[in-house]
Amino acid sequence: SKKAFIFDLDGVIVDTAKYHFLAWKKLANSIGVDFSEVQNEQLKGVSRVKSLEKILAWGNKSISEDEFMELMALKNDDYLSYINKMDENEILPDVTKILDFLIQNNQPIALGSASKNAREILKKVNLFKKFDTIVDGNDVTKAKPNPEVFLKAAKQLNCLPKDCIVFEDSLAGVKAANIASMISVGIGEKSVLKEADYVFNDFTEVSTEFLKELINK
Ligand code: BG6
Ligand code: MG
Repeated sequence: SKKAFIFDLDGVIVDTAKYHFLAWKKLANSIGVDFSEVQNEQLKGVSRVKSLEKILAWGNKSISEDEFMELMALKNDDYLSYINKMDENEILPDVTKILDFLIQNNQPIALGSASKNAREILKKVNLFKKFDTIVDGNDVTKAKPNPEVFLKAAKQLNCLPKDCIVFEDSLAGVKAANIASMISVGIGEKSVLKEADYVFNDFTEVSTEFLKELINK
């Protein structure tokens, strides 16, 4: 039956997970909170609001709603200073090759990202036109691991969830795909993404044979 391939953005298509980390760390430190790279795994795939809530909880901080909005804006401004400098060189290895293979094989491709900056980033790295549909942080109300973002993408591509294949670098995203009854492919460390149906360190390990198998399943 007809398949659809859904890609997360940050940490899957582009190496922006490091910029989120740097920007959150700077923001957290400015209010006297620190967190580790291990804790940072919990911020991956998670919305901007949820990320700040977690950081505040780690630091036992409670702030007013106005301050909360201000801190989110500060973080995003800092993050955008990195994004503005991005170009095609920041596409992760073999991502373009994989997208082009799927396009050549007439497979629908969606973006399923929690980021409100997703469209701008895709344009920056010149991949925007490769996607049949984009569902991002502006289109959903529930953060991953809630499957809303992926279910919306499936619907827009007219594909049943069980026929969708999701590529994710975050545990929250893998959980979201699994909850949606989609096939989850983890991109990153096996120890972190063990709940995924398949895990690869990066796209250089994802063969076209493997993709063909998924297409013909
Ligand atoms: C996800 C990232 O893709 O998007 C998270 O993994 C980030 O780290 C989230 O917090 C929201 O992104 P943005 O760009 O809207 O702040
Ligand atoms: Mg991600």
